[in-house]
Amino acid sequence: MTAIELRGVNLALGKGPARTHILKDVNLHIERGETVGMVGPSGSGKSTLLMTLAGLERPDSGTIRVLGQDLGALDEDGLARFRGRHVGVVFQSFHLIPTMTALENVATPLELAGAADAFERARAELAAVGLSHRLDHHPAQLSGGEQQRVALARALSVRPELLVADEPTGNLDEATGRQVADMLFAETAKRGATLVLVTHDPALADRCARTVRLRSGHVETESEAAA
Ligand SMILES: Nc1ncnc2c1ncn2[C@@H]1O[C@H](COP(=O)(O)OP(=O)(O)OP(=O)(O)O)[C@@H](O)[C@H]1O
Ligand SMILES: [Mg+2]
Repeated sequence: MTAIELRGVNLALGKGPARTHILKDVNLHIERGETVGMVGPSGSGKSTLLMTLAGLERPDSGTIRVLGQDLGALDEDGLARFRGRHVGVVFQSFHLIPTMTALENVATPLELAGAADAFERARAELAAVGLSHRLDHHPAQLSGGEQQRVALARALSVRPELLVADEPTGNLDEATGRQVADMLFAETAKRGATLVLVTHDPALADRCARTVRLRSGHVETESEAAA
């Protein structure tokens, strides 16, 4: 079954002289339950592609189907609802809410999704990323790696069918990075979820079943990597 299908996707962002044609005729097919590592040089469009397939950027042309849904057929509210139900996003720059504690950051999307035990589950998710001792800290009081783990706990807590993560271990030491990656793969495998992650770390890309390489907004090669 198909998780993600992009056909002829083009996207430009910015205004005036900053206008940049970022995604160029991108075609991509990802099966449900697949783990895909997106790699490529800085500025090649990895984050933009991730945001596009998560429904956070609309393409200028082309079609995107995610979990059977044509994203082009949804208005902004529809897209937000779709994401809330089915997609977990870990941003490169975390996007934690600065006025909320770590616990509140993780519990809030659960509450919005109608979970009665939002705070209990948020506590468990934060424990799983080793942050039981930082529940009441605000993002500004957390290290970069700790913020990254809160963002990960938040994305996983809603048990998404599709998880997209932009450099999920980019700010972590080797041991913590491995631990977080273990959790990421274990959680997605347990639920048969689809995982698309962006990374500059060859070891992390190698853990994915498949690698997609971007160069100047083109999907350059798709090779089956040895698992
Ligand atoms: N809003 C925007 N307006 C104009 N140009 C943009 C905008 N956002 C991104 N770009 C440009 O598009 C290109 C792709 O950006 P993107 O963030 O997708 O790269 P990336 O592959 O994720 O890079 P990195 O590995 O450094 O995170 C970059 O050259 C960037 O400068
Ligand atoms: Mg990026």
